[in-house]
Amino acid sequence: MNQDTHTYSILLVDDEPGIRNVLAITLTHAGFTVLPATDGDAGLQLFFEKHPDIVITDIKMPGIDGIELLKQIKDASPETEVIMITGHGDMDLAVKSLQYEAADFITKPIDAAEIETAVQKAVDRISINRRIRSYMIDLEYMIKEKDRAIDESKTLSTIGQTIAGMSHVIKNIAGGLKGSSFILEQGIENENREYLVKGWEMMKKNIDKITNLSLDLLNYAKTSRLDLAPTHPDQPVKEIKPLLGTQAEQMGIDLKVTLLGKEDVRVMMDPGAIHTCVFNLTTNALDAFDTTIAPEHSRQVHIFVPQKDNTVVYQVQDNGMGMNKTIQQTVFTDFITTKGTRGTGFGLMTTKKIVEEHKGKIGFTTREGKGSKFWIQLPLS
Ligand SMILES: Nc1ncnc2c1ncn2[C@@H]1O[C@H](COP(=O)(O)OP(=O)(O)OP(=O)(O)O)[C@@H](O)[C@H]1O
Ligand SMILES: [Mg+2]
Repeated sequence: MNQDTHTYSILLVDDEPGIRNVLAITLTHAGFTVLPATDGDAGLQLFFEKHPDIVITDIKMPGIDGIELLKQIKDASPETEVIMITGHGDMDLAVKSLQYEAADFITKPIDAAEIETAVQKAVDRISINRRIRSYMIDLEYMIKEKDRAIDESKTLSTIGQTIAGMSHVIKNIAGGLKGSSFILEQGIENENREYLVKGWEMMKKNIDKITNLSLDLLNYAKTSRLDLAPTHPDQPVKEIKPLLGTQAEQMGIDLKVTLLGKEDVRVMMDPGAIHTCVFNLTTNALDAFDTTIAPEHSRQVHIFVPQKDNTVVYQVQDNGMGMNKTIQQTVFTDFITTKGTRGTGFGLMTTKKIVEEHKGKIGFTTREGKGSKFWIQLPLS
């Protein structure tokens, strides 16, 4: 174990004396200060008296159970690492405790090596978090100093918001990955195909999310490294229907694409980047239909590529929910999303950046409850 383990204290809550004693001996031997408690109430009281760094608690206990204890501890002290002890059948409870930010699980019967690894991981995380916090304090100080010197407070607060929004998204994805790997582990351990399939589906969704987020970040961060080539305006739109058609169909949306069709037209563009833009506008248009409300009219999304004077226009129109004033004012500039954990708020910011790098224009018209029309205009070569 880590040399500085003697500085860490562990609250150990379990109503089974056998488990409590074995764990207390193992952890004391490993150099920790162990505070045993016989149930949730006693554990909670001891927690507030002694402020331990780590809590290990059984998930099922009479009185205050492990989940409730976890909730109350995390509410009062989010940095405390809480490790749950679960029985084999406690899958739902275990996944639930992940949502409340449990650090880890130990499944009964308890293995000494397993508990030592889990505690060591918690110790490492606490020490990293403490270091990060002290860096953050330094960083905050440095930023404040700079802020005084140069008038960039607007930019800094935008970056701050971006980072805050991003950490939220990443935290959600990390939670999802943790949940899915737990279900997969249970599936492998118990040779349970249902868990394997469920875990894998969850894992795939979260992998998609993190991939999209990384691509968004890359697109957003890269400065004009566009692969420009004279391209037919229809090319970036051709893949949209094959990619999103099935999803649209499942949502009861009629996704229609009207290409320009003309042969002798070219636009200087990075077709991959423009594809990303039209893709973003189209996913937003599909998201504009609230699936909980029965449609009053047929749901339609229309992608249209007309030529207008010496420009080509990519227009994505929907008859979905539209946008209110607040969203209208910030969609292109702020990291704003109304989609909870599903959205990042990056889509339109990235899209605008790419369009401007192409010396193009982007805009929209919208009416709440009626629908929106987003358009991108690029100059013809
Ligand atoms: N066609 C649309 N209809 C209604 N609201 C829209 C439309 N397009 C964008 N919005 C609003 O603008 C917000 C920002 O869109 P943006 O594409 O930047 O992020 P997102 O779609 O929430 O997340 P992401 O694109 O990263 O998945 C959306 O959350 C939504 O509220
Ligand atoms: Mg979007």
